[in-house]
Amino acid sequence: CSAFQTSTTLAGKKIVVTAGGTRERIDPVRFLANDSSGKMGYTVAQSLQKRGATVILISGPTNLTPPVGVQLVPVKTSAQMHDAVLEQFANSDGLVMAAAVTDFRPVQVAAQKIKKTAAAKWSLELEKTPDILKSVAKIKQSQQITVGFAAETQNLQVNAQHKLVSKQLDLVVANDVSQPGVGFNGDTNQVTMLSQNQPPITTELLPKTAIADLIVEQMVQLLPKISL
Ligand code: CTP
Ligand code: CA
Repeated sequence: CSAFQTSTTLAGKKIVVTAGGTRERIDPVRFLANDSSGKMGYTVAQSLQKRGATVILISGPTNLTPPVGVQLVPVKTSAQMHDAVLEQFANSDGLVMAAAVTDFRPVQVAAQKIKKTAAAKWSLELEKTPDILKSVAKIKQSQQITVGFAAETQNLQVNAQHKLVSKQLDLVVANDVSQPGVGFNGDTNQVTMLSQNQPPITTELLPKTAIADLIVEQMVQLLPKISL
């Protein structure tokens, strides 16, 4: 019966999911962060788990309870997430990078709380963090699938297509985070999914649970094709 098939499609597959935002420390009482709630990644993890996959959820700090049955690997910084992803990806069948990874971090972390001075302005020197998906692309085997997200505020398809190619992804889930109800923090999302050989799929504005199921549906279609 179809319910049985649905629940076991991914049995025996190990999928790594990242979720939430990473944080970069400035001093003992301050950090750089972003608006990610973790909801999209947690919902994808749950959807994969319902299909029978073994799910490793590598998560930045969130207010969410991990879905029952998934293995949580908590991280804080982009460097910690980078190392955890590379370790877990090695013997996995795929990766979904739903995390909002901080793009920059302070060059120096102050050991003591930074004090105000007489100056009216102050600036913080930042350096780029490692691109986790680009590191994954270097070790990716042909039977492994990688899914990335693209958070955009303009030129959605062009920017997302560029990420599909530059990060060697099988699927990119693009959302226009400037639209109401889309992307960071809410319970709904609207996405356009791009893959290598298929026309783009644009969804309606839907609950994140429904979006997660559509993403997993695409992954199910991609997995057997490349494990033949
Ligand atoms: N990503 C990553 N490592 C980073 C930054 C992002 O692996 N250091 C991943 C995200 O998890 C996401 C994808 O790359 O799956 C795209 O993230 P996004 O922020 O949209 O794009 P960037 O490549 O960071 O470029 P920009 O923010 O300038 O658009
Ligand atoms: Ca980014």
